[in-house]
Amino acid sequence: MEQFVIRGGRRLCGKVAISGAKNAVLPMMAAAVLSPERCTLKGVPRLRDVAVMREILERLGVQVAYRADGTLEMWARDLATCEVRDELSRQMRSSIFLMGPLLARVGKVKVAYPGGCAIGPRPIDLHLRGLEALGARLRERHGYIYGEAVRLRGQEIHLDFPSVGATENLMMAAVLARGVTVIRNAAKEPEIVDLQNFLNAMGARITGAGTDVVRIEGVRDLGGCQHQVIPDRIEAGTMMVAAAITGGEVLIAGVIPEHLESVTAKLREAGVAISFPEPGQMLVRGPDRLMATDFKTLPYPGFPTDMQPQVMALMCLAEGTSVITETVFENRFKHADELRRMGAQIKVEGRAAVVKGVPTLFGARVEATDLRSGAALVLAGLASEGVTVVEDTSHIDRGYEQLEVKLAGLGAEIERRPALQLADPDGVG
Ligand code: UD1
Repeated sequence: MEQFVIRGGRRLCGKVAISGAKNAVLPMMAAAVLSPERCTLKGVPRLRDVAVMREILERLGVQVAYRADGTLEMWARDLATCEVRDELSRQMRSSIFLMGPLLARVGKVKVAYPGGCAIGPRPIDLHLRGLEALGARLRERHGYIYGEAVRLRGQEIHLDFPSVGATENLMMAAVLARGVTVIRNAAKEPEIVDLQNFLNAMGARITGAGTDVVRIEGVRDLGGCQHQVIPDRIEAGTMMVAAAITGGEVLIAGVIPEHLESVTAKLREAGVAISFPEPGQMLVRGPDRLMATDFKTLPYPGFPTDMQPQVMALMCLAEGTSVITETVFENRFKHADELRRMGAQIKVEGRAAVVKGVPTLFGARVEATDLRSGAALVLAGLASEGVTVVEDTSHIDRGYEQLEVKLAGLGAEIERRPALQLADPDGVG
């Protein structure tokens, strides 16, 4: 286990480049199983989740090569099995993305039921009901889901909630189905548009991604393709908060600003100056005084739940009181307890958190319990007086490529250390 040790108080300045989007890459890696030809992704970040998905693909019999320049080649010529083993499923919820592609390509799948996770129960009923609507026969036994289908059939599907994962899983299942599938109340996230583009480059016929109706005309088979992954809007948003919380000035490069409109609007309300010097760039300048602002997480294009912890960290240092409402996940305020250890004043009541801004946070030993909570604690540490130790970087490494290297490049004092080397919060040099 490793930890980040941060000495706070540095203004972050300079330029940072954004990596490819984790949440776009994971479903695309699963989608590579749909074709017996080579699929190449460019701009794939070096992340723990990507490594786990690679292992899942390799165990299925997919040949995978990853180059240092971020190019990932996948060749699913012959599949050895249609089982995703328990220990891999447990490491990453996104293993359920294999259900749609394996049912579509080989008509059979066995995948371990994903367990609960740190941000609350995350059911997969919408995935399962949608796959059944397409003609898959599913049953659950001993913690595994077994699926079978001769050939899936196109169908009208209405999602009760615009689930990102269910929309993607059903798109991947429907591309090889007989007839037309229409997904209504589909999620509209940019990663879904990117998946549509990837699948269409393989020869699929999908329209409507990015709206709430996605239409998929099934085709007999798919070929290979090359695709450039979109930039990670959540990594970019995290860097925006890093600039804002330290009163710094950061140029964020390789970003699609339209994907961050809700975050930009909220940060501007808080007093952060944001401009777009060139296409694909954002210049973010933190104010002398941050102002409290309320916000509510929603499906895209609303404020992303994946930015809620980081902006909560920012609100801890704003003048006034902000009310944060989490509508997407049931239990996504674990970071509040840790932020309180750093001197934040936060009261959580059900799905709302009331944050009363304080003038200063103080470094402490805190624990990252999930990916974005971990990022929030790092951000709070950057702006705190003294030394913060964020325990268990593994959650952060799931979704941020070299976070500490990028922050250090902007002037942050942050270091990765093995956890056994006990850091002394008062004497870290
Ligand atoms: C994806 C993202 C995750 C992000 C989330 C919401 C990936 C790999 N992960 O997760 O980073 O936080 O979108 O933007 O892209 N739900 C059900 N039944 C289902 C599916 C979902 O009730 O079958 C509920 C969930 O419990 C949750 C809500 O729907 O409350 C949103 O979940 P969903 O959009 O599916 O998120 P994920 O795809 O898991």
